Amino acid sequence: MRVKPANGYNMLDYSDLYRSLQGTPLQPWLDTLPDRVRGVFCDAPHGDLQRWLSVLRGLPDIRPSRIDLSAAAVSAGASGDSDAATRQSVEDLLRQLHPWRKGPYRIMDIPIDAEWRSDWKWERLQDWIRPLDDRLVLDVGCGNGYHCWRSAGAGARLTIGIDPSLLCAIQFHAVKHFMGNRAVHLLPLGIEDMPRGLGAFDTLFSMGVLYHRRSPLDHLLELHGCLRNGGELVLETLVIEGSAGQVLVPEGRYAKMRNVWFIPSCATLLSWLTRCGFRNRRVIDLTFTSPDEQRSTDWMRFQSLRDFLHPHNPELTIEGMPAPCRGIFLAEKAD
Ligand SMILES: C[S@@+](CC[C@H](N)C(=O)[O-])C[C@H]1O[C@@H](n2cnc3c(N)ncnc32)[C@H](O)[C@@H]1O
Repeated sequence: MRVKPANGYNMLDYSDLYRSLQGTPLQPWLDTLPDRVRGVFCDAPHGDLQRWLSVLRGLPDIRPSRIDLSAAAVSAGASGDSDAATRQSVEDLLRQLHPWRKGPYRIMDIPIDAEWRSDWKWERLQDWIRPLDDRLVLDVGCGNGYHCWRSAGAGARLTIGIDPSLLCAIQFHAVKHFMGNRAVHLLPLGIEDMPRGLGAFDTLFSMGVLYHRRSPLDHLLELHGCLRNGGELVLETLVIEGSAGQVLVPEGRYAKMRNVWFIPSCATLLSWLTRCGFRNRRVIDLTFTSPDEQRSTDWMRFQSLRDFLHPHNPELTIEGMPAPCRGIFLAEKAD
């Protein structure tokens, strides 16, 4: 990771990524991508950007003695790779990027215990998806990129995560700083910034995003447009019990979240997938989120799931709606 000035602002340097897209099915993306990324940093930069960039600049250059992208805690380095004072300064810097919502990570043997056990989601899907060896992977709404690292650990040739949260991008770059040169990238963009009909990715993850979209069928069509023919969609979202056609549209907050729009039944979502041009679509997992999987920690000190559930009935949200249950769906882009 390098930080360089641009138009009076500092920005992260994505030139390695841009170079790696040349000559691949993703090359047409280069027509718009650099301008989009520049806009994020220069048009209306986040008020905390300079503080976050100074955290990245403070990270020491340490050559990690080991990397593990296949363990539950995505890891780089060991405690013996630096002295105790350097390790403490790394921990202090990483803590300045609070809140860490996705993880766990272990950097220079410093455990980052994030709000979510994101490894549990990976465990639920890893044996069901097409092997990732040599595939081009896009993770839409990737948070700080935890599942991007796991995709690389599972053999992906190139993994790109997109997420409009700039703090997520900064956390990703803090982790990447210790990872060496790997084909894993995170762009601070939303799905709406992707070129229409790119048709290039072999595997596409959209996990925890659909219910945040006001137009879920448009989201499915956008995902469809990013995949190559025959490519695999891995979709994870909140679901309710119910038959085809049933969908919950919260009138106010859902589990204290203001931005939850559509929670379909599995049968409804399967029919949406068919309508949007996917075949061989199926549900591979249904799990109620537990307060062991999503909880406050030392690295995420705000409220978490326990505060969002009904105080006397954990089967309901605090607003009285069905408690969060998540389904994982697989589907292929029909030719
Ligand atoms: C619940 S988190 C899920 C993170 C990760 N995919 C996972 O499953 O652990 C949802 C993420 O979607 C991102 N998001 C929201 N709107 C988005 C959009 N329009 N395009 C892409 N990502 C979006 C949010 O910033 C957030 O990081």
